[in-house]
Amino acid sequence: MARLSQVHATAFVTGASTGLGRAFARMLLSEGVRVWGTSRDPARLAGLCAGPPGAFTPLALDLADGRGAVSAFAAASAAAGGAFDLVVNNAGYGLYGDFGEVEASAWRAQIEGMLGSVLEISHAAYRSMRGRGRGCLVHISSIAAEFPIPYMSGYNVAKAGLSALSESLAFESRGSAITVIDFRPGDYRTDFNRTIRMGPQNDTTRRVWARLDAMFSSSPPPERAAADLRRALLRNRSGIVRSGSFFQARVAPVLGRLVPSSLKRRGTAAYFGV
Ligand SMILES: NC(=O)c1ccc[n+]([C@@H]2O[C@H](COP(=O)([O-])OP(=O)(O)OC[C@H]3O[C@@H](n4cnc5c(N)ncnc54)[C@H](OP(=O)(O)O)[C@@H]3O)[C@@H](O)[C@H]2O)c1
Repeated sequence: MARLSQVHATAFVTGASTGLGRAFARMLLSEGVRVWGTSRDPARLAGLCAGPPGAFTPLALDLADGRGAVSAFAAASAAAGGAFDLVVNNAGYGLYGDFGEVEASAWRAQIEGMLGSVLEISHAAYRSMRGRGRGCLVHISSIAAEFPIPYMSGYNVAKAGLSALSESLAFESRGSAITVIDFRPGDYRTDFNRTIRMGPQNDTTRRVWARLDAMFSSSPPPERAAADLRRALLRNRSGIVRSGSFFQARVAPVLGRLVPSSLKRRGTAAYFGV
């Protein structure tokens, strides 16, 4: 069976300290890919540094500082030989609360970090891949791009925007050796819900959160997403990859396309208990 390092020798993975990003980094390292991984606190990446020298390089990167994030990417890219073969824009966080109750500045900061800063990293990555004539860009979007999660409006906007960016670049890179993967996980058991930022709560948001958290606790482990990403990378072509439970990754997207939007909204509300 092919090894990923035959397709991609170097990779840049944001948010590699926990959850999906760590599982992606581990999977890539086990495939012989040299990985540059980020955290806001690189000490949290120690567990990935155990391999052979030069296999994993820890980096500091905070999406809240867009300029700093792009500089960190550019420096790593230069160290990797001018361009990464693979860039996985994975880092992100949740912000939960009623749209009107949470300050607009908090929603805005989330969209600026998870969409604005990511767009800038993708822009730098795409340019360097174009210079070299090949590469793969992965955006870790979410099922939220298709089914907005209640009381996570900033997150839904950021992920829908990111998926639109993937689609735009997949279109523009047709016919070249650059591929763009929009990876849309359903629920995965990571640190996401533990580190989510909570706005002011009321009875409704608390009830919906209990439901979201219960679904999250019984969701698959991140290694399953890493296996799905590995398969997608070996296919080496642009597209949308849905990953997660059978219902979230297979059934819901088909239903979402077939039913009218009013019915889709009712079904989503029932699913989340809104
Ligand atoms: N888990 C799910 O069910 C699920 C579903 C769909 C999509 N996703 C997406 O998958 C990605 C990874 O999430 P996860 O579930 O693995 O959550 P996680 O375990 O909380 O991991 C989030 C990662 O992002 C980093 N991060 C958070 N805020 C950051 C910031 N402002 N700047 C830079 N890095 C930041 C964290 O690193 P440090 O804290 O060390 O800086 C951490 O490595 C996210 O984009 C998330 O939206 C997750």
